[in-house]
Order: sequence, then C-alpha cells, then structure tokens
Amino acid sequence: MNHQQIDQLARQWIVDAADRPANPRVQAIVLRLVADLCKAMEDLDIQPGEFWKGVDFLAKAGKNNELGLLTPGLGLERFMNIRADEAEARAGIEGGTPRTIEGPLYVAGAPESPGFARLDDGLESNQAEVLFMQGTVFDADGKPLAGAKVEVWHANLLGNYSFFDSSQSAFNLRRSIIADDQGRYGFRTIMPKGYGCPPGGSTHTLLDLLGRHGQRPAHIHFFVSAPGQRKLTTQINIDGDEYLWDDFAFASREGLVPPLRRVEDPVAIAAKGLDRPFATIDFDFHLHADVAALPRAEVDRVRAAA
Ligand SMILES: [Fe+2]
Repeated sequence: MNHQQIDQLARQWIVDAADRPANPRVQAIVLRLVADLCKAMEDLDIQPGEFWKGVDFLAKAGKNNELGLLTPGLGLERFMNIRADEAEARAGIEGGTPRTIEGPLYVAGAPESPGFARLDDGLESNQAEVLFMQGTVFDADGKPLAGAKVEVWHANLLGNYSFFDSSQSAFNLRRSIIADDQGRYGFRTIMPKGYGCPPGGSTHTLLDLLGRHGQRPAHIHFFVSAPGQRKLTTQINIDGDEYLWDDFAFASREGLVPPLRRVEDPVAIAAKGLDRPFATIDFDFHLHADVAALPRAEVDRVRAAA
C-alpha cells in the first residue's frame, strides 16, 4: 500500500467510524499515530510476530512501571524539553537556568524546610561523602525571589529513590526548601552516585537490542517555583562522573554542571560540625516570569504522592 491509501484507511477507521461526537484533539492525535504506525509497518515490512512482540513489550513495560524510564531512554522526554525551549525562544524568553528532564521518580508531599534542610537520614553516612549545596533563586531581572520553593530529590548510594525503594526511610533524599527573605536556599546531603536502568527490565532489554547502555551520571533533581514565575524542572550533574556527557536519558546540559569544591580546611570542617572533608556546590537558579501566551511550564502528569 502507498501512504495515501493508508491515510484513507486510517481516516475510515478513526474518523468516519465515529457515530457520536468525538473529542477532536484525541481524534486528530490517534488518527495521525495510527496512520504513521501503519506506514512504518508497510515501509519496514513489520511482520505480525514482530508487531505482537512490540505490543507485549509495551504491556510488560506498563505493568512494571517502566514507561516513564523508556520515555527519556528513547529521547522523547528530551524532545519535549527541546520543544519547550523553542516555544520560549519564540516568545523572547532566553537564558536563565536550563531546563532538563524530570524523570519518573518525583514524589509529591516531601517535608518543607525554611531556608535549609538536611536531605539524608544518615544511614549511609559512613560510606558517603557529605555534600553541601547552596545558592539563590533569582528572577529574570536578577532580583532574589524570597519564598521561592526548591523541591529537591536524588538517589541513594545504590542508585535507588526513596518511596520506590521501600527499604529507605520515608522521604529520604527528598525535601521542599523554602528560600529565605533573600532568596537563598541550602541543603546538606550525601554525594549521589550514578545509576542504571533495572537489569532485566523492559528499558534495559530494549537498550541492549539497540546496542546502548542504560546508565545515568550522578545528578540531583529540582523543581523550582515562585508565584508569577515559570516553574523550572531541572537537574544538576556531579562533575567528573564518567557518564557526565553519556547519559542514557540525554539530560546533561551545558550550564547544569556546577564546579564541585572539596573543603579540607579543619576550621571550615569544624564549622560544619563535621570531622572529615566535605564537598560543596554553589548554584543559583534563574527563573523567568510567566507569559500568558505560552503553554504553562508546569507539566501536567500523574505523579506519585506520599
Ligand atoms: Fe534521577
């Protein structure tokens, strides 16, 4: 079949078959996706066995809650970021802290702390380097945003996230920090490690077939929000990670790899109440004012809540 014949068939199945009012947006999207899939089946001569293998793959990925991992792994979450950047550029919004992917592991409801928080529950303290991270949240004019909310989450030393890893304490390595009256936030945590897709899982299986690894460099996730500002979804990477520019999720970006400083001065160590050297990162967030003409920067998505 040629593409024109396929378009006609898809229209017959999806549009002409409607015998009551349809949701026009859903109809347009499904029409396009069904037609494009049929074209791929025709062009690539996809056999029924291959088709059903694909259906089974998606069913299993859904059952194992891996679709949120597959999405960044195939570049689709990065693609949505590129489109959001382009939409902002068309509206004259440029600069500021770059956005990057959210990933599937945010959990709503983390405890709120004014100004400063310790993220880790201390159980990995013996194996981990202590990390302090601090900075200021600014608007586009360089004015500090007092009361801005910095939601932060990251993995433990085994590369697992609390809530999804029920062996961790509730909200371990997750907090909402409310910036002080000068827009400053800060936290103490453990230096995160990189991690990989679950071995034997759907994403890993597909990446193997694609000749790709499923590793992420060490990183820390953020939502940064303030009234009247576009919500920022981003991450910072830990400099020096071997996968820094080889992230399976394509989330690394210039501007999101802040310098990491190691502090060995005994006076500075004692001032933090520690007995060994620690690492520190200074990082400011720069937000943009909301623009009515643009799609909201807040991404509507079903998320876990605890
Ligand atoms: Fe992550």
